[in-house]
Amino acid sequence: MIVLAWLACGPNEPPVPTWEADIGPLVEARCAHCHVDEDTGAPYLELDEEPYDNLVDQPTVENPTMPYVTPGDRYLSYMYHKVNATQTLSGGSGTSMPFGSPLDESDVELIGAWIDGGALP
Ligand code: HEC
Repeated sequence: MIVLAWLACGPNEPPVPTWEADIGPLVEARCAHCHVDEDTGAPYLELDEEPYDNLVDQPTVENPTMPYVTPGDRYLSYMYHKVNATQTLSGGSGTSMPFGSPLDESDVELIGAWIDGGALP
């Protein structure tokens, strides 16, 4: 709650994260090598080419109740639930992401803040 209040106001408010500056490099480094358009273990979601377009407002395989990313609401974004290990609670399935090597809490929060801020390109 303190973090949320701090994010919501104040002169030292951090800039809203963007895909280009923040999330794209993170996904490239931590997700794209598995999520490729080949016969790998992660066939549902392609993140090596046009990852932004494949995530924002796109339906998922595991969770029929929400897309990967709903701009403005991390809790209606399955991508957030997968990195936050709340995928089952959200109505989905499988393991949390990245498979076998969870993100730091600060990177999970970065993804949440990016989505809440409108999933800016
Ligand atoms: C080591 C390989 C690997 C890495 C790294 C990885 N994933 Fe996955 N991902 C998988 C596999 C395998 C599945 C399918 C099984 C499951 O969901 O547990 C999957 C499934 C998913 C799904 C569900 C797809 C659907 O349509 O329902 C999402 C969302 C997802 N991953 C996001 C990510 C994100 C975001 C990252 C990076 C932060 C990431 N993954 C990193 C292997 C990986």
